[in-house]
Amino acid sequence: PVTVFPDQQKAAVRVAQRIANLIRTKQDKGQHTVLGLATGATPVAVYAELVRLHREEGLSFRDVITFNLDEYYPMQPDAAQSYVTFMNENLFDHIDIDKEKVHIPDGTLPREQIQAYCLNYERKIEAVGGLDLQVLGIGRTGHIGFNEPGSAPNSGTRLVTLDDLTRRDAARDFGGKGNVPTKAITMGIGTIFKAREIILMAWSRKKAPIIKKAVEGDISSEVPATYLQLSDNVEFVLDEDAASELT
Ligand code: F6R
Repeated sequence: PVTVFPDQQKAAVRVAQRIANLIRTKQDKGQHTVLGLATGATPVAVYAELVRLHREEGLSFRDVITFNLDEYYPMQPDAAQSYVTFMNENLFDHIDIDKEKVHIPDGTLPREQIQAYCLNYERKIEAVGGLDLQVLGIGRTGHIGFNEPGSAPNSGTRLVTLDDLTRRDAARDFGGKGNVPTKAITMGIGTIFKAREIILMAWSRKKAPIIKKAVEGDISSEVPATYLQLSDNVEFVLDEDAASELT
């Protein structure tokens, strides 16, 4: 289903509430919650609302385990542009999560260790019972995670090459496209699909053309997000601008 909100802030509050309800419901049953998380501009307001719920409404992340979708490769965790830095600044440093329960792909590994590392990332997700909820943004190439055009629907966590458009969109954060890494480690489409619930969010007119393709276009590896049409567990959460080209 597609849910359209008047603006990003209202949508973000609703998504944060859904995450909080899931955490609280599972906590009441003595269970942990496994969240799949995204970086980038899209989820920032959701994370801000989760921080507010923690500070003002007693939401605890003690029983939460997280797996981030992706990280640039190569990338040092303490670099300003790393997804480790992003997650710490926007969420983890402001909540009571146990940092041992946080997982973000390691951008520092030697090439020959990456394949085994990626298989182990999948195993770790499975060992804690699988992802309860995966939060996604969408790139203008149609990528989810960093699954660029050409990604297979059953793909797993792996090293990928970033699309030129994705690197151009990241250029500002890196002070020029030439400084953007050419590769990344990302969960696969198959990894994302195993999540019991998936929420894809998009805001602004800039995302309207790719949202039209993702929601209404033919299912194709050319626009990896179209695979989400095959899942019954996906909600597209949009603001009016991102939804403006839907029929
Ligand atoms: C980030 C990720 C990407 C972004 C996408 C949109 O972890 O996996 O798929 O969600 O590139 O980025 P923003 O939100 O910056 O427009």
